[in-house]
Amino acid sequence: MLDGTWTWIYEGYDPAQERLRESLCTLGNGYFATRGAAPEATAGPAHYPGTYVAGCYNRLTSQVAGRAVENEEIVNLPNWLPLRFRAKGGAWFDPDDIAPLDYRQTLDLRQGTLTRRMRLRDAQGRVLAVEQCRLVHMGDPHLAALRTEFTAEGWSGELEVESAIDGDVTNAGVERYRDLDGRHLTRWHTGAAGTDTVWLRCRTSVSDIRVAMAARTRVTRGGAPTARLLEPAARRAVHRLTLPIAAGAPAVVEKTVALHTSRDLAISDPRHAALDRVDRAADFSGLLADHAAAWHRLWRRAELEVPNEAGHVLRLHLFHVLQTLSPHTAGLDVGVPARGLHGEAYRGHVFWDELFVLPYLNLHFPEVSRGLLAYRHRRLGAAVRAAAEEGLAGAMYPWQSGSDGREETQRLHLNPRSGRWLPDHTRLQRHVGSAIAYNVWQYGQASGDSEFMHTAGAEMLLQIARFWASSAVWDPDHERYRILGVVGPDEYHDAYPGADGPGLDDNAYTNVTAAWVLARALDLAGTLPGPRRQELFERIALDPAELDRWEDVSRRLRVPFHRGVVSQFDGYGDLAELDWEAYRDRYGDIRRLDRILEAEGDSVNRYQASKQADVLMLGYLFSPAELSGLFQRLGHSLDDTTWRTTVDHYLARTSHGSTLSGLVHGWVLARARRSEAWMHCREALTGDIADLQGGTTAEGIHLGAMAGTLDLVQRGLTGLETRDDALRLNPAPLPELKDFSLSLRYRGHWGIGLRLRSGRLAISVPDSDENPITVVLGDREFTVSPGESRTLDLPGG
Ligand code: BGC
Repeated sequence: MLDGTWTWIYEGYDPAQERLRESLCTLGNGYFATRGAAPEATAGPAHYPGTYVAGCYNRLTSQVAGRAVENEEIVNLPNWLPLRFRAKGGAWFDPDDIAPLDYRQTLDLRQGTLTRRMRLRDAQGRVLAVEQCRLVHMGDPHLAALRTEFTAEGWSGELEVESAIDGDVTNAGVERYRDLDGRHLTRWHTGAAGTDTVWLRCRTSVSDIRVAMAARTRVTRGGAPTARLLEPAARRAVHRLTLPIAAGAPAVVEKTVALHTSRDLAISDPRHAALDRVDRAADFSGLLADHAAAWHRLWRRAELEVPNEAGHVLRLHLFHVLQTLSPHTAGLDVGVPARGLHGEAYRGHVFWDELFVLPYLNLHFPEVSRGLLAYRHRRLGAAVRAAAEEGLAGAMYPWQSGSDGREETQRLHLNPRSGRWLPDHTRLQRHVGSAIAYNVWQYGQASGDSEFMHTAGAEMLLQIARFWASSAVWDPDHERYRILGVVGPDEYHDAYPGADGPGLDDNAYTNVTAAWVLARALDLAGTLPGPRRQELFERIALDPAELDRWEDVSRRLRVPFHRGVVSQFDGYGDLAELDWEAYRDRYGDIRRLDRILEAEGDSVNRYQASKQADVLMLGYLFSPAELSGLFQRLGHSLDDTTWRTTVDHYLARTSHGSTLSGLVHGWVLARARRSEAWMHCREALTGDIADLQGGTTAEGIHLGAMAGTLDLVQRGLTGLETRDDALRLNPAPLPELKDFSLSLRYRGHWGIGLRLRSGRLAISVPDSDENPITVVLGDREFTVSPGESRTLDLPGG
């Protein structure tokens, strides 16, 4: 591994870039995360410190556009970072007041630290060199630490340092949400403990989650403080220190912070837990050693070796995925937040994005996948109730999910371009249920966890299948079942032009995935152990006769076509063609074509124009063989020509207004149009680091796209499938990405090595007592036993 690929370095200080850097330099451990904001900064146009605990939501009602709008969002918790400093009697050193002489920020992925090195000057011309390193502990998920080393250049005197916990924070990280109330915290209390610790506790106003932080601040190098004051105030707990500083002799201040909430297990109360934990915490070097060791173990498990620039970016993506969803997440009641724990966009909600995340995790951290599926399972009751309210059977999962599994999608959304609040119909994306079912199935295939599949997995899969069977209506004219009034993954289309109500009929993605879910549910129902099958069927009152209908629906759901192309939905082919060139010329970036057209008084619903991959998602979820089998089951033949024509059709009519789009296109084109694949893969790789969606990364990373790029290498380019009890491979390396290696966890095997190099594939299975694995490569099938390795030429390689 090239050492250079382990760090991300930002040179210079640019206030306009700060919020983006803060997102990309967020540190977290799967329990909580803190944006990479400067400790001396407060929230304002340039900075937005934010700390989020996974699953810590609160619900508020605001008046928006004359309506009461209820919103549940992930809560920005008290800021534990504050640390400012000044020469006694001077002004606080602040890069925003006086431009720094030097400024460099380094994100070290290997050990999970963020280091700032800067030289600052105050109004009196005193120069202070500062090196500041922070961590959010990957070993002990309740700890964070900040070490600051000061060196006075050519002057001596006293340095005043103020270290605080600031509870006076709100959710204000997303400009578009400014009309929504963001004051989630209440009932602050602060105090001091011992000689060097302050604490703050508060609650969320409605969910009533108690939150406590304790901060210990010590001088660990240089002269002892000449003064020290612990100052618990109304919403801030402040600790002031005065230390002697001599030219060229570094002084070090270490701030160690513990964070607990009342959602934590095995604690009595959060304040006590935080104080106790901070009191026992080691010094910074001890914490760093344990933290780096924890990261080392994670990297070993997640190993993905990709050379060059792509490898550098992928490692950053992996870093942020693991900071959001680590083994610590496995024991929490949380789902996959679309924007990580890195900002407030999408309010910390859980969408279908887990479809892009779990397939990666399944093969490295199956326990994390299982924990995330348990989040969905705990909300199965809510999904069954939601379906019943629509007069349907089975489970209808919400498009946006938060703490209790009710639908959290907002009713209105703002078009910043027109300033208008518009109805939001994206909740009609019923396909989210299929994403959950897909993940249940993939998890089962990758892990071999029959215990889960026969219990929670079966309960979810059967109820989702039941929902689809109940949603399907028989249309005698078409002699097909149809699913009416939905929205597909392409959120631009939410209604027929001029229609009274929202929703579209026969979204191909929805129908084909529904057919797949029904088929898998039938498979699983057929393999459940007898007593369990009886117990489960009794409990959910599933009449075995229902299975006949499932079988029928799974074979006769309608898939619309137009002019030899799979239609995105019924009637799609009748929509107008957009003059793409004219729009590109006029607007440059047309990723958010929906907003552009609405601001013009038009509607994207009138055009054959998609925000993101919709039909093409089918090529993302299913291998060519599986997809053509699925179409065959539905009575259609999806030959290569139809698929390629379909790919070309949508490729020319998609604006990529979601980061997920480039990823899916890259994945699909790697097989259908190799020469164009890399352009889309690159877009997926640079989406966040270059902030391609225009300012959105500053509001949180795009976790689905980040994890998806890892999976692009892991499953997309290798063609890896864990299907029918075998590891199937069908590599389609790209010229730009053809040599790489990874290690997998699969059915009890740890560290299966897979390497693609120079047209050859090497696979090795570490020694163990597990069963040999069956590998299928093209038309070759063989077994690899523990302790064995095989190297094979790729078909056509
Ligand atoms: C995309 C959705 C996605 C959501 C959250 C939207 O922009 O269109 O597919 O689930 O973002 O990431």
